[in-house]
Amino acid sequence: MKALLQRAPAGDQEDVGPLLAVEGLAIHFGGVRALRDVSFHARRKEVTGVIGPNGAGKTTLFNCVSGLLTPDHGRVTFAGRSLRGTPMMRARRGLGRTFQTPRLFRSLSVVDNLAVGCEVADAAKLPYEFDPSLGSADHVERAARIARLVGYRGSLGAPAGSLPFGDLRTVELARALCAAPKMLMLDEPASGLDIDQALALVEVVRNLAALGLAILLIEHDMSVVMGVCHDITVLDFGTVLATGTPEEVQNNPDVLDAYLGKARRA
Ligand SMILES: Nc1ncnc2c1ncn2[C@@H]1O[C@H](COP(=O)(O)OP(=O)(O)OP(=O)(O)O)[C@@H](O)[C@H]1O
Ligand SMILES: [Mg+2]
Repeated sequence: MKALLQRAPAGDQEDVGPLLAVEGLAIHFGGVRALRDVSFHARRKEVTGVIGPNGAGKTTLFNCVSGLLTPDHGRVTFAGRSLRGTPMMRARRGLGRTFQTPRLFRSLSVVDNLAVGCEVADAAKLPYEFDPSLGSADHVERAARIARLVGYRGSLGAPAGSLPFGDLRTVELARALCAAPKMLMLDEPASGLDIDQALALVEVVRNLAALGLAILLIEHDMSVVMGVCHDITVLDFGTVLATGTPEEVQNNPDVLDAYLGKARRA
């Protein structure tokens, strides 16, 4: 640790360790302890998978990190500083997310939905680290280029409410990117997509990580998870069951039991 700190240039704390560090997170809903002592981290240029059976606490974890929920215990550090405050304050620090069920302004056009993201980037003066030239483009050009980057082929003028499901997911991802995030949290982005759309998504996620973003990915489709993640945290009943590379996690008996044991016992 000491050696790491000595190597880091002054004022560049966020490059020393992981971009996101979660320590000892806990939250309960009445009698349900949805998260218990959850710790993990995510790094730039890497896709960190968060997997686990239904009800394991994955979305709750995202909601605690993004500020929709306030945990009972625990600490979240982002880019070297404590992460606190409303979801908007966290977005202005460079935290982007999508939802398990896409949330767009349905009566607004695609381009206006994307402009909402651009407003966040402008207000916080966030640089587009994945493509710095976007910073000098106006909202319409930024929206068009980011829509292309994520593979949206539809009309920018279409009302979001008229889009097919796959496009809702793509446009929501584009909106998150328009806000110039350092980290993107994606909650089951392949769910509801057909195989070609899911393959295209994997490619986009891989590219975004290569461009420097940290990606946190909740996903049930194991071929997506194993194909794209550098590191995986497995949740079960609100606790971290295992952390490791896809190979390590795939061969972990506790993980196999959490996924298959229930089916075997049923
Ligand atoms: N707002 C809430 N009020 C009460 N209980 C909740 C709330 N949100 C989540 N829970 C409970 O917390 C636990 C974790 O839920 P969560 O949605 O985080 O799971 P998940 O891993 O995302 O599951 P899935 O794979 O089905 O999306 C579940 O038992 C769920 O019923
Ligand atoms: Mg969920």
